Amino acid sequence: MKIVIPGGTGQIGAVLDRALTAAGHTVVILTRRPARERDVRWDARTPGPWAKEIDGSDVVINLAGRSVNCRYTPDNLRAMMESRVHSAQVVGAAIGAAQRPPRLWLQMSTATIYAHRFDAPNDEATGLLGGAESGVPGYWSYSVEIAKAWERAQEQAETPHTRKVAMRAAMVMSPGRGGVFDVLLRLARLGLGGPVAGGAQFVSWIHDRDFVRAVEFLIGRDDLEGPVNLAAPGPLPQRVFMRVLRAAWGVPVGLPATAWMAELGALVLRSDTELLLKSRRVVPGRLLDAGFGFDRPGWPEAARELAGRVRGARR
Ligand SMILES: NC(=O)c1ccc[n+]([C@@H]2O[C@H](COP(=O)([O-])OP(=O)(O)OC[C@H]3O[C@@H](n4cnc5c(N)ncnc54)[C@H](OP(=O)(O)O)[C@@H]3O)[C@@H](O)[C@H]2O)c1
Repeated sequence: MKIVIPGGTGQIGAVLDRALTAAGHTVVILTRRPARERDVRWDARTPGPWAKEIDGSDVVINLAGRSVNCRYTPDNLRAMMESRVHSAQVVGAAIGAAQRPPRLWLQMSTATIYAHRFDAPNDEATGLLGGAESGVPGYWSYSVEIAKAWERAQEQAETPHTRKVAMRAAMVMSPGRGGVFDVLLRLARLGLGGPVAGGAQFVSWIHDRDFVRAVEFLIGRDDLEGPVNLAAPGPLPQRVFMRVLRAAWGVPVGLPATAWMAELGALVLRSDTELLLKSRRVVPGRLLDAGFGFDRPGWPEAARELAGRVRGARR
């Protein structure tokens, strides 16, 4: 197949590019800064010659969006919103205008679309979308609004010959530098991998190989469309999640951090505490119903395997 990946130069793009190329597919990456042979320039906002790559392709997987690992200032929030909505709109327009449209458009979305909650897991059918929770900082609703607008941009695109899936992905755990696993492991190794603000908030995650397998599953299943959660079936409270990660690497202690310490740390790391404090309790209802089987459903085994790959890469 020919698979086009707008925004495929980042962490998830690298994981997908490697796996799909190894499986024998032709992968083309749309990027604002082409550097490699298979990279094609676009600006993620306006139509251009890049649309030729989409015409005649089999699958489009749009990952483009300004990183959310930043301070949630008004400027950054606007860039997070616009980069997602505009790129989804222009991808939709290119698919709609194609002579030979792809049969599938996988659009990245996020597990963050669901409400901050502890009481029950969110699947696609019964889960609560966020934005109206009480007792959380008001600005948290903005990331939910971004996710909703992102999905709406795909829904509203007129692409009658193309199946559309919004991938509500949890944190994708891969050993690559700068990815979320790398950051969490670094914190754990510094002795900072303890509970944050009590650590009752849930962490949803998915092992990188299961993420790739889920993408391949979605490509193969013509009956699946709309929102699909890509998350391992067992989200864990943050204090347990980090304890397991410490055990996987062999770090005996993890200092607890209060909410204000996390605030200070996030300020230093130029990140935002929402990423640490929001309870993301998300489960893969539709994938399991459709018969998808996870290779790494449990965090202890997944964390050990990922830690082993990090150690292997360093040797
Ligand atoms: N990583 C996760 O665990 C996770 C989980 C759920 C959802 N997601 C979402 O999935 C997508 C891919 O994740 P990732 O971790 O691979 O992200 P990433 O490493 O930040 O890569 C995203 C790509 O988007 C492009 N981009 C960045 N800023 C942009 C802007 N202002 N306008 C247009 N394009 C821009 C960049 O490509 P160029 O610079 O080459 O143009 C970048 O390589 C993101 O939208 C992310 O929010 C990620």
